[in-house]
Amino acid sequence: MDAPVVEAANGLRVRLLRDTHADYALLARWLSDQRVLEFYEGRDTPFDYAKVVEEFGPRAEGSDEVVACIFEVGGAPLGYVQFYAVADPAEYGLEEAKGVYGIDLFIGEPEQWGHGIGTAVVKAVTQHIFERLGAQRIVVDPHVTNGRAIRSYEKCGFRRVKLLPGHELHEGAWRDCWLMVKERA
Ligand SMILES: CC(C)(COP(=O)(O)OP(=O)(O)OC[C@H]1O[C@@H](n2cnc3c(N)ncnc32)[C@H](O)[C@@H]1OP(=O)(O)O)[C@@H](O)C(=O)NCCC(=O)NCCS
Repeated sequence: MDAPVVEAANGLRVRLLRDTHADYALLARWLSDQRVLEFYEGRDTPFDYAKVVEEFGPRAEGSDEVVACIFEVGGAPLGYVQFYAVADPAEYGLEEAKGVYGIDLFIGEPEQWGHGIGTAVVKAVTQHIFERLGAQRIVVDPHVTNGRAIRSYEKCGFRRVKLLPGHELHEGAWRDCWLMVKERA
């Protein structure tokens, strides 16, 4: 069994995505669920198994800069989280990218939304990024309409710092996003 990236209270474990049928099948199930796609990737871009392997395979093999992880609670896989050093500061309207990391996540089981799990994952992963990777700041860029994600990130210490107009193409339209930043303590 590979070592977890993060192990936190309440049975939360964040581990690296594996180059296995089981992990790709999980992602294919989650990323073909319309309820998940509404908030991540878009309902017009469902993933089948082949697309998951194409997109996530390099990350699972470690040949991509994105660190891709599955998070589990009590041994049950519930979702996906990834983090990466930001390469292009302009993408987030920032002056410079040194020491800046980005994070994205989704809980793939919608009945688990709203129970504090996403907040626990973000807290654990941001702590890991600051302590182990020496980051100075961590950024997220939720759609302005994604109130649940924004609230969750605020509970983790992120602050809305800038509106990013038309920042992401989602379901056929360019969506406004908030740049939210958590600074190193
Ligand atoms: C975003 C996500 C990771 C958050 O994790 P979660 O476990 O559901 O969030 P939590 O339960 O920890 O916190 C949610 C908070 O938002 C609040 N909330 C729920 N719906 C809301 C809304 N429409 N507007 C504002 N706040 C809302 C909840 O009341 C809770 O706040 P509280 O603890 O102060 O009551 C998860 O909901 C998810 O995966 N959603 C689908 C994919 C997604 O949106 N990914 C993020 C893309 S940026």
